[in-house]
Amino acid sequence: MKCEAVILAAGLGTRMKSSLPKVMHALGGRPLIQWSYLACASATGATPTIVIGPESDAVKDALPDAAYVVQEQRLGTGHAVLQAAAVLKGKADLILVANADLPLLRAQSLEDLIAVQQENEGPLSLLTAESDVKRGFGRILRDDGKRIIGIMEQAHATAEQLAIRELNVGGYCFDADWLWEHLPGLNLSPKGEYYLTELIELAAGQGQAIGSASIHSLDEMIGINTRVHLAEAEDALRRRVNAAWMEQGVTMLDPASVYIDADVVIGQDTVILPQTHVHGKTTIGEGCIVGPSTVIRESTIGNACEIRLSVVENAHLEDHVDIGPFAHLRKGAHLCEGVHMGNFGEVKNSILRPGVKMGHVSYIGDSDIGEGANIGAGTVTCNFDGAEKHKTIVGERAFIGSGTMLVAPVEIGRDAKTGAGAVVTHDVKADAIVVGVPARELRKKR
Ligand code: UD1
Ligand code: MG
Repeated sequence: MKCEAVILAAGLGTRMKSSLPKVMHALGGRPLIQWSYLACASATGATPTIVIGPESDAVKDALPDAAYVVQEQRLGTGHAVLQAAAVLKGKADLILVANADLPLLRAQSLEDLIAVQQENEGPLSLLTAESDVKRGFGRILRDDGKRIIGIMEQAHATAEQLAIRELNVGGYCFDADWLWEHLPGLNLSPKGEYYLTELIELAAGQGQAIGSASIHSLDEMIGINTRVHLAEAEDALRRRVNAAWMEQGVTMLDPASVYIDADVVIGQDTVILPQTHVHGKTTIGEGCIVGPSTVIRESTIGNACEIRLSVVENAHLEDHVDIGPFAHLRKGAHLCEGVHMGNFGEVKNSILRPGVKMGHVSYIGDSDIGEGANIGAGTVTCNFDGAEKHKTIVGERAFIGSGTMLVAPVEIGRDAKTGAGAVVTHDVKADAIVVGVPARELRKKR
């Protein structure tokens, strides 16, 4: 049976107190909307249709591949689904509906829901969960025979109904024809909205069976209405993500203080130490030691690397690289196999070829540092003349003395040496030794 998904994301999210649409707030390094989008796409195998409000261009920019319909007036969840009728009528046998503010809902739970509805003779099934944390959830009403007969919204529930522990999670699977036939007939609630949940009572009134599926874990129903909920979701997601990596063979000394975005990949036997943040599409190889107190963003790290107390952004480390403490790799830093970079170094838009050593307090920008070269303490590539950036090239095995200023554009030949404190303003030939300010070649005594 073909199933299409509708994601409800037109709500105002006023309680977030933000200029950003609610579904654009970040969770685990992705906008909220992307979580429900990926779960629905995976459960149905089709591109979900997202119901957005006017002024939601940011959502479209974040997920350009989704299909969109606009709900001009926010008249409730039932009215929101109705907006998708024009594009989805006749396209599927089943319609999966999910609230966009439930980012931790697993694809597996939605698949179970679809499977339940495929077996159900009635027109719809829904996801439910039993919990004592009931904030804002609709209560599931069942008759003496345990058949679902309705959903009571918290705002309208009696004291007795408020005590019900079975809650409406916010995921539904409908027979498409039945949904499109009955959706336009919803009544206006006392709050002035068309509630999707009214369809449950309607189906039960027709004597039809309503199916239900349970979510796999209670964290799936953490709905985002405030920034406090967002922090709760982040915490729950962190537990999920970190547990999954530990199961894959990654060691974490203190997983509660390790922050790993959803799109990160980590190899076996890597150790992540406390207070480490790994963001974006970062890949870390096998057998690495990362942290403590390290931030890595959008980077590729090879095998057997050590990164201690450092910041790594848009960089590439090959195997057996060790950096830190207090190293800063910026955009376009490429450290080849076996590079050592000690404390207080910064590298930007440069390649350090295999075996380069850069022990202390240096800045390397817009440079190509040859294999086996040694960058002495305090070396600076003076790459910016106030208007433009210039390139520095250092040859293989060159020895750059402490405190050398390499005034770019400049090229140091292979096996050349610069004396401590040299200010190099002209190219240096291979094997030559230069010293002084400005640096001049030292003639060897015969
Ligand atoms: C809804 C359910 C409630 C359920 C809960 C689970 C209804 C009437 N109630 O309540 O039973 O327990 O979700 O999370 O459905 N939206 C629109 N357009 C609108 C209104 C809402 O697109 O006009 C979207 C929102 O962006 C949100 C979703 O629909 O993603 C749910 O809306 P929300 O206002 O959060 O409903 P709840 O009060 O949480
Ligand atoms: Mg909600």
